Parts: sequence; C-alpha cells; structure tokens
Amino acid sequence: MEKNIFDNYEALSVFAAEFIAKEIHQKREFVLGLPTGSTPIGMYHALCELHQLGKLDFSNVKVFNLDEYIGIDRSHPQSYYSFMTEHLYSRVNLKPENIHIPSAEAGDLAVECALYDKKIAWAGGIDLMVLGVGANGHIGFNEPADKLMSPTHVVELTRRTIEDNARFFEDVSCVPVKALTMGVGSILKAKKILMLISGKAKQQVARELLSGYITTKNPATLLMLHPDVTVMMDKDAACED
Ligand code: F6R
Repeated sequence: MEKNIFDNYEALSVFAAEFIAKEIHQKREFVLGLPTGSTPIGMYHALCELHQLGKLDFSNVKVFNLDEYIGIDRSHPQSYYSFMTEHLYSRVNLKPENIHIPSAEAGDLAVECALYDKKIAWAGGIDLMVLGVGANGHIGFNEPADKLMSPTHVVELTRRTIEDNARFFEDVSCVPVKALTMGVGSILKAKKILMLISGKAKQQVARELLSGYITTKNPATLLMLHPDVTVMMDKDAACED
C-alpha cells in the first residue's frame, strides 16, 4: 500500500486527478470505478479542468459508480446519479452508454445487483477504482459488520452513516436507510485502487487502514489484501500539522 500525504485538500484533489488522468492515458479503453461524497468533489473539479484544457478525453472511458440510495428517484437532487451528473457526467465527454450506476428503480434489486457485477466483468473489469472512506471505515456502503458481502448487494445503512449523510438532506428522517452497493469483492477485483482520505474526522480510520490489521469492523482495512493500492490523504487525515 503506497501512502501519499498532501498539505491540504486542494493539493490532494489535484494530485488525485492527475493520477487518474495518467492511468487513463495508458490504455485505449479504460474502466473507472467512482465514488460520491464530499471527498472526491475537488478531484472531480480537477478532472473537469483537465478535460476543458484538452488534456483528458473521456470518450473511451467507461465509468461504474460504487453505490446508489434506495428510496429516492434518480431525479432526486440527492441521488448519487444527480451528484455524478452535476460533478462529472454533464461536464466531460463521457458517452451516455458508458455511464453506469446501480439503479434502485429496477423492479428486482437482486437481479440489478447481479447484472451490475456482470456489466463490470463484460467491460473487462475495473482498471482503477477510486474510493472515499466513511468515518466508520465503510467503503462504498459496505458498513462495519461481522460478515461482509462480496458481490454488489442491497445494504441497510448504519445509524452513523445516516447521521453523517443527513447534512445533504432536509433532516435526518429524509435520509434513505438502504442502498445498493458494490460489495467488497467487487471492489477488490479492481486492478488498481486509489483511496482518498480528507479531514480530521477520518484520522482514526486512516490510522487503522495503515495499521496492518484487517477487520470487517473497518471494511477499509480489507484493502490491505489488494496488491496495488495508493492512499492519498491530506495532513488533517494523516494527523500531521
Ligand atoms: C459514496 C461512497 C462512500 C463515501 C464515504 C465518505 O459513493 O462510496 O463510501 O466515500 O461515505 O464520504 P465523504 O467523502 O462525504 O466523507
């Protein structure tokens, strides 16, 4: 696991975007796994800037998002589809058919989950999976638990995650309590992983991630099993002044 620490969030975001651009440039067709949340917003902004400057072409990039809420429509302003449309899809030259996000509107969610993993496999697997991490160690919406699901599946969100995400909704009672998420296995199948960690609230999770101990109580620690993970964090997350 390679660790990079940046002075601040802006530097982290720019370096993350440059890392992704470099990977995309190495392959004619590229499959990119993507997160939502506050952490990657700066990175998306930097990716869009590279695109506007003519330095990054998305025409041969397929994207697969990690997760989506169940219980709100795609058109809801807080759906992950809306988030991605605002921060990336509408700002770069991704082909509509190359945009993938699990659909909570599918009639049969179990079928949708199985199909999602198949679509990733049909695309050739994820070349680079970009991840954020929850303050409780969740990746995607794989919450701390005794057992974790490997494939894409339906999850119940923990109280902590619901409260963390309440900042985006009118109040906590409006936050969806379930979601569709890539499983830990779907994530670990990616050829390469880039994890972004920002802010003091993530210090403990960052420490555990680099501790050498693996536990399903902090799903991010499972990344230690992967041979090619780069962790980029700002000084706040790294406990450095
Ligand atoms: C969302 C996702 C989540 C977030 C995590 C951190 O697609 O995968 O695991 O990465 O909840 O969110 P922020 O960045 O808002 O702290």
